Amino acid sequence: MSEVLVRAERDYVVEVGSDWLISLKNACENRQRVALIISDAFKERFSDLELGNCEVFTFAIGDGEAGKSSETLLKVWSWLGAAGFTRSDLIVGIGGGAVTDFAGFAAATWLRGLDWIAIPTTVAGAVDAAIGGKTAINSDYGKNLIGSFHSPIKVVIDLNWLTTLSDRDFAAGLAEVVKAGFIADGEILNLLRGKDIQAVRSNPVLVQELIERSVKVKAEVVSIDFKESFAREALNYGHTLGHAVELDANYSLRHGECVSIGMAFIAQLQLDLGLISQDLADDHIKILSDLDLPTTYKRVSWSKLMAHMAVDKKSRGKTLRFVTISEIGKTERLENPDPQVLYSAFEKVSS
Ligand SMILES: NC(=O)c1ccc[n+]([C@@H]2O[C@H](COP(=O)([O-])OP(=O)(O)OC[C@H]3O[C@@H](n4cnc5c(N)ncnc54)[C@H](O)[C@@H]3O)[C@@H](O)[C@H]2O)c1
Ligand SMILES: [Zn+2]
Repeated sequence: MSEVLVRAERDYVVEVGSDWLISLKNACENRQRVALIISDAFKERFSDLELGNCEVFTFAIGDGEAGKSSETLLKVWSWLGAAGFTRSDLIVGIGGGAVTDFAGFAAATWLRGLDWIAIPTTVAGAVDAAIGGKTAINSDYGKNLIGSFHSPIKVVIDLNWLTTLSDRDFAAGLAEVVKAGFIADGEILNLLRGKDIQAVRSNPVLVQELIERSVKVKAEVVSIDFKESFAREALNYGHTLGHAVELDANYSLRHGECVSIGMAFIAQLQLDLGLISQDLADDHIKILSDLDLPTTYKRVSWSKLMAHMAVDKKSRGKTLRFVTISEIGKTERLENPDPQVLYSAFEKVSS
């Protein structure tokens, strides 16, 4: 097990490769009550969980984005009230990013802020959602519109959870790992080159190292920039087009798959602008496609995608902004590139 420190409104550690149950038992030692907010998908596993003298309450929420709703949150608030949850009690989110985002927001809002722990059970949850203190639920007007910065007291990554993920979900999470490689830690790319999804999954030592390195990348960025200004933007590599594709596909693709398409696009765009070499552009496509991640997107209305990019919350005012890399590990910004060059790069990654 290793620990990565995150600096935020209060510092906390991310345990990588620990035993979630032992870690949870330790956290509950001097608590009266704990509320476990878990994914519906594995509620049976929690039916008879005991945590010493700490009274355990369990609430299962719907799978994925559907569970991250205000209706569910109203139920959880009533449930916490009925169970008499006080400031000294604990909330724990166990599931993918959707569940930990939701549990964190429930913790942020109940009594103006309860301690909470994130136990991510997906790759994307482990390397991205659970780290950085952003918590949220969805609104009818968009994803994550209702939220708060409320850091957990710790994040517990038990790699055993990941073994039941589908290859598709595992690979989608790895897109964020690849991103961490390009923006900050080239060793991640060295570890991944030439490997397919099975070669990664069947090697727990490798999975541990990839996750630890990616957690470090995110932890370092959010520690400099807790409330999201300049430094956090680096994490948006591949995301400007990625978010537009996610919307265009009506969320039928995984977030990581859209980020993969977004990285293929930004690689092409940078190549066309003479910002990176052909080898570096090819490196993006090879690593992503070896992991069975998509690197092309169907030829859809470019103006629609442009409109989605323009409203992306990460673009500021009238500025259409992309994160670029001048070399592996070194990010820069590209603002308002020539629309014709953008279009031409998209054509090249269209299928
Ligand atoms: N707070 C942040 O900074 C931040 C950052 C990135 C993403 N997010 C949020 O994270 C969410 C996406 O997270 P995600 O990719 O983990 O998706 P998810 O939470 O929707 O989970 C994906 C699927 O995997 C299943 N699953 C979870 N754990 C499993 C396991 N161990 N075995 C088998 N199946 C399992 C889930 O039931 C679900 O069907 C989005 O809601 C996004 O907004 C938040
Ligand atoms: Zn992302």
